[in-house]
Amino acid sequence: MFPTNFAWGAATSAYQIEGGWDVDDKGPSIWDTFCHEGGRLVFEGQSGDVTCNSYELWEEDLRCIRQLGLTHYRLSLSWSRLLPEGITRHVNQKGLRYYNKVINDLLASDVLPMVTLYHFDLPQALQDQGGWKSPEIAAIFDSYACFCFESFGDRVKLWITLNEPYVCAKLGHEDGIFAPGVKEPGMAAYLVGHNMLRGHARAWHSYNVLYRAKQGGSVSLAINSDWAEPLDPASPDDTAATERYLAFTLGWFAWPLFVTGDYPEVMRSSIEVRSKELGYQEGSRLPRFSKDEPSLLGTADFFALNYYTSRRVKPGECCPGLLGLKSDRDAEGVVDPSWPVCGVSWLAVVPDGLRKLLKYIKDTFNNPAVYITENGFSQVGPVDMEDVQRCGFYHDIIQEVARALREDGVDVRGYFAWSLLDNFEWADGFSVRFGLFHVDFSRPKRPRTAYRSGREYAGIISKYRSQTMVNI
Ligand code: GAL
Repeated sequence: MFPTNFAWGAATSAYQIEGGWDVDDKGPSIWDTFCHEGGRLVFEGQSGDVTCNSYELWEEDLRCIRQLGLTHYRLSLSWSRLLPEGITRHVNQKGLRYYNKVINDLLASDVLPMVTLYHFDLPQALQDQGGWKSPEIAAIFDSYACFCFESFGDRVKLWITLNEPYVCAKLGHEDGIFAPGVKEPGMAAYLVGHNMLRGHARAWHSYNVLYRAKQGGSVSLAINSDWAEPLDPASPDDTAATERYLAFTLGWFAWPLFVTGDYPEVMRSSIEVRSKELGYQEGSRLPRFSKDEPSLLGTADFFALNYYTSRRVKPGECCPGLLGLKSDRDAEGVVDPSWPVCGVSWLAVVPDGLRKLLKYIKDTFNNPAVYITENGFSQVGPVDMEDVQRCGFYHDIIQEVARALREDGVDVRGYFAWSLLDNFEWADGFSVRFGLFHVDFSRPKRPRTAYRSGREYAGIISKYRSQTMVNI
């Protein structure tokens, strides 16, 4: 049994599905630049220039959404489609019209939108001014957020400010394998994470003061995290390493919002210890929040969790002599040999890790309402339309969500499968497919066809929804 109002959703993001990268006055984003510049690390030099072409083919997406029987659809707005220069001086009316149509069509189909303001695609114009490393970005993000609340907030009641700041910070500014491709280990990621949190807090406070009373929505930040447990549960070293592992992913962004308004103590102390060992002199590499700025604590109306995988953890083996997030964290996650790995190497499939993580969130962050804003299973290699493994995965994971709700008392409000469609999977290009619908990227009309898992997910939704209706 699921609660009557449980959100049954699927998610996508603008750069991964829209295409139309330079049409109708859209400004370039950092992913346009990252993919277009030679020598970058995207699979076979691919890009999101066209991808599913949802900018032209939105009605096809709507058909898929309706076919699944979703109650909710999570999409993101392309900042540089709405504001080509990133600031409100110049609004692209056609971009505004596009998102208005998407939102109105969803509502007319009885599907509620959950809207993410930022999913990895910073306007290039803002990157040129320093991007997320610049302290000014927090106020600029806030004014973009207010523009969106003003434009769409009469109809959108579920907002995500930023998707996965961890990934933007680490993959984008430490490893350099995501846009904007910055490689400044042990430095830039902390600054970027900090400015993203500052931007989020400002946007939440703006919503709270200016829009909440008349619009009545909720605002949060989507945090990605593996579930982590000690490699050897009896080992104090593995247990301490696990605490650090969780602090450097989940805790980094959740602690400021839900617990103290600041970073987890173990994160700060690990960074200080490593800095000392390396003779790093210039103050803390992990910035401090200023008392003069809006406070972070309490700036999430619900917990938005992106969960994909789990790890068993032991102390780090990586490069203690080097400045870097991994060396600060001093914890190594390994895949248990009993866990199947699906498609991409990082994605060990561990459905019960989600249940454990949900319980941990309930206990650590004061029993928040939780939306699972992303979770999925990928396919690599020849297309398999009869994807029985993925069907099994969706059954298993939804069982775990049900157990978290019923047996552990976690206040889970919804589940969003990643993803509605096969799409541009960042550095993996089109080689990794997460869709419930297959997209034929070789044909101009990008036809969408339900995988077996799409049909199964539709069946699961309809079964549980009819049960909850009987329950009333
Ligand atoms: C998340 C990201 C999504 C999607 C997914 C699958 O980190 O938010 O955009 O790519 O991973 O890898």
